[in-house]
Amino acid sequence: MDNIKYLEKYLEKDKLKEGLEKLKQGLPVQYIVGNVNFYGITLKVNENVLIPRFETETLVEKTIKYAKENLKEPYKIIDLGTGSGAIAITLKKHLNSQIDAIDISEKALDIAKENAINNNLIINFYKSNMLENVKDKYDVIISNPPYISKNEKIDDIVKNNEPAIALYADDNGLEYYKKILEKATDHLNKPGLIAFEIGMTQAKKIKDIASKYFKQTNIKVEKDLTGKDRYIFILNK
Ligand SMILES: C[S@@+](CC[C@H](N)C(=O)[O-])C[C@H]1O[C@@H](n2cnc3c(N)ncnc32)[C@H](O)[C@@H]1O
Repeated sequence: MDNIKYLEKYLEKDKLKEGLEKLKQGLPVQYIVGNVNFYGITLKVNENVLIPRFETETLVEKTIKYAKENLKEPYKIIDLGTGSGAIAITLKKHLNSQIDAIDISEKALDIAKENAINNNLIINFYKSNMLENVKDKYDVIISNPPYISKNEKIDDIVKNNEPAIALYADDNGLEYYKKILEKATDHLNKPGLIAFEIGMTQAKKIKDIASKYFKQTNIKVEKDLTGKDRYIFILNK
């Protein structure tokens, strides 16, 4: 659906003129409408959270499959860098689970909490710098962290509107994978699963980092719907 049709479909008639003006100014339609559909549920979004992407729906779908095939329910799960709460909320909806979710952005956490309440789900949201304030152990550690290298060119609509803190990472985009992986063994049950969304050129490097901490562990790279390497699953058996 093109952007104008999208606004016509989702905005009240009296908001349409203002919406079209914002579209001309370069705002993403999802921020103008104020919500998105993600994996079958409606989530509020604004400029404090990343707009959840289709690729992340595939991360959720594959994680559900891995969990059901390899782990015992009820699953204890943590979502690192929850943003709008998209991953935590959809996993909670589809898995018998207890879910914690953290973010470093309090403004993002406010939106995530609102989204969980709107969907009648109980999720424990709190502020943490990745695993820094996390005490527990989990069956599943999942994250779609910021992974864009600071010198990578990205679309203006993303760069000018979505929060930089949700997009960029140091160390060629690998900063947060390293940060999570170096502490993950202290927070992962056995059996346990780490599920990452990754940039399409990062698979080999992240796999190499993961294999330093998870020896003799099944580390799988999986593809998105367009055939690109976009996910890593580490199954710690
Ligand atoms: C790529 S966005 C993903 C948001 C959401 N999980 C999704 O998939 O749509 C990354 C998220 O990580 C958060 N973040 C960035 N640095 C962080 C840190 N050091 N600790 C925790 N969260 C962080 C950002 O605020 C943002 O919400």
